[in-house]
Amino acid sequence: MDHLRDKRILLGVSGGIAAYKAPELVRRMRDAGADVRVVLTPAAARFVSTLSLEVVSEHPVGVDLWAPSQDSRIVHTDVGKDADLIVLAPATADLIARIRHGLADDLLATTVMACRTPVLVCPSMNNEMLGNPFVRENLAALEADPRYTLLQPGVGLLACGVHGPGRLPDPPEIIEAAAAVLTPKTLAGVRVTLSAGPTREAVDPVRFLTNHSTGSMGFALARAFAAAGAEVTLVAGPVSLRTPVGVAQRLDVTSAADLHAAVAATWDQTDVLVMTAAVADLRPATVAAHKVKKSELGAGMSLPLERTVDVLAAMSARPDRAGKALVGFAAETRDVERYAREKLAAKGLDWIVANDVSTEGVGFGPGDNAVLLLGADGEARPFARAPKERLATELVATLAPSLARRFGRDG
Ligand code: CTP
Repeated sequence: MDHLRDKRILLGVSGGIAAYKAPELVRRMRDAGADVRVVLTPAAARFVSTLSLEVVSEHPVGVDLWAPSQDSRIVHTDVGKDADLIVLAPATADLIARIRHGLADDLLATTVMACRTPVLVCPSMNNEMLGNPFVRENLAALEADPRYTLLQPGVGLLACGVHGPGRLPDPPEIIEAAAAVLTPKTLAGVRVTLSAGPTREAVDPVRFLTNHSTGSMGFALARAFAAAGAEVTLVAGPVSLRTPVGVAQRLDVTSAADLHAAVAATWDQTDVLVMTAAVADLRPATVAAHKVKKSELGAGMSLPLERTVDVLAAMSARPDRAGKALVGFAAETRDVERYAREKLAAKGLDWIVANDVSTEGVGFGPGDNAVLLLGADGEARPFARAPKERLATELVATLAPSLARRFGRDG
């Protein structure tokens, strides 16, 4: 995905074991559209080769503060200033301390200090080091400075053999965080609750009814809303997707009734409700306490069903609905615009995003989508087939001015 299209990134690598992941990170950043330059600390150069990084970045790699520059420019001031973003990954306790205390004793620390370029700090270290009070203090100081954004380290198996916090997040997460730093915060202060994925309606303890939704469009939208500065609560059906960077809260649900309860519980703190979830419309009328045996099914083998709650319609019917914006999704296989317009009106929505799930390669699952955005004010805007991540960014950018006017911090 081209999250970093036309961006200039300076990747600063310090001397932790996770430095070995730097070439892969450079490759992924370039795949995401960025031009990447790399500066290593001397300690990082013991973990990863400058040659590998020169080959994958297609640029010279800086390590030595005292190396003469080819055109006699003062390289360490230019390389940071010329970047849109500095990413420090991994950022060791030592590098974090030096930056926090204004030390400029190697090329990387000097580069960071000699410019005002925003910095994404990706701390990665042993879990005891991460918990050390002085390290915590240094991290808190960086976090309090608007120039720096921290990406929390992951929990996992660390190089020292312990399981705990301190792991460098994988490249897609770092890239997502980098893109978020570079996205204007047009939706700051706007509280978005977004549902995504399918629901499961139990038949008995081992069986359920569900649908093809994977949650990929909803998770892409949650990422895009969070990147634009919205405070996002993600209500997720059963999916196997990582929580997007910047999402404030994730509530995992299983059935339509659970999803309704979660959306209703967050309603008072919601400005915008976006329902991308493929909520099951039907559920078994009774849930068997024990696994139903084939022999018990009877000759007709029929499963009595009942309607689930229409979450969107139920929220739209609430007396305080006027103070909120509601966005629905409509998955159709024919007469897409007509059916979507009917749902927009019937459910009292501000917008509906319609997609034709019968088109090959579009709709369910990761990959592409093509949608039509319809507004209650008559707006009709098609979005041509594109990867879901890009489409999500475009949809949020389209909705943002109106949402910011109504609910934004400055609104
Ligand atoms: N929706 C909901 N609760 C349901 C069913 C749907 O909140 N029980 C929401 C979906 O999240 C979506 C919108 O309503 O935002 C439209 O969903 P869709 O399944 O396309 O439409 P339905 O209203 O279920 O109509 P139909 O199945 O007849 O097409």
